[in-house]
Amino acid sequence: MINKTFSNTSTFKNPLIEAKNLSHSFDYPLFEDISITLNEKEIVAILGVSGSGKSTILHILSSLLKPKQGEVFYGNKSLYNLPVEYQTKIRREYLGIIFQSHYLFKGFSVKENLEISSLISKEEIDASILKKTGIENTLNQNISDLSGGQQQRVSIARVLTKKPKIIFADEPTGNLDSKTAKEVMSEMIKYIKSINGTMLIVTHDENIAKMSDTIYRLKNKKLSQVHELS
Ligand SMILES: Nc1ncnc2c1ncn2[C@@H]1O[C@H](COP(=O)(O)OP(=O)(O)OP(=O)(O)O)[C@@H](O)[C@H]1O
Ligand SMILES: [Mg+2]
Repeated sequence: MINKTFSNTSTFKNPLIEAKNLSHSFDYPLFEDISITLNEKEIVAILGVSGSGKSTILHILSSLLKPKQGEVFYGNKSLYNLPVEYQTKIRREYLGIIFQSHYLFKGFSVKENLEISSLISKEEIDASILKKTGIENTLNQNISDLSGGQQQRVSIARVLTKKPKIIFADEPTGNLDSKTAKEVMSEMIKYIKSINGTMLIVTHDENIAKMSDTIYRLKNKKLSQVHELS
């Protein structure tokens, strides 16, 4: 049994995002009255079976989907009460979203995909990010010619190139072998801690969740903190 203290060692926590009393449904209720906080320097994982609503929570927290009930606060601002242009500005300037289904530009090369982020963020493509994600030799290849795992690493590199304050990662390592998954996760964690940001990661993989500071499980429409994973 692994006994791990998930809470931050520092007693002072600075919340960057607070989601309060969220409920959402599509054809049927997915979750009801759940709350979650993402603190500065905190890596938070959400576990849960397929279809439980993990991606939906990630979309709500990352400005992409207004919840049926509840509020998401970025600092003291209620995200979905802000003008849409302002929501877009926050998304563009502060958020890096790694989607479950990559959303890379298929007809383009790896380099061109990274250049788009680099243009948005006005940050150079960082050679060390290419190396850390192991895609330095794929730059001129077309996205469609890459394996699923390589595409996944390009989408991680693309988000890191943007240098966001907050990363939302939806199953970012689902197509990677466990060694590569751990290495890539470590790089993302190191980056987030170094800039005093925060990261929410949705995953099926308990070994990846264990690398986080705080772990939740979405089950029976409720989100509960997990204090121990066997
Ligand atoms: N835009 C949508 N319109 C209608 N139903 C949706 C929509 N998005 C998600 N759903 C439904 O909500 C449920 C939860 O979806 P969600 O993608 O949040 O689950 P998940 O926990 O991320 O699953 P997985 O682990 O398979 O990715 C599913 O039944 C899905 O079909
Ligand atoms: Mg999902």
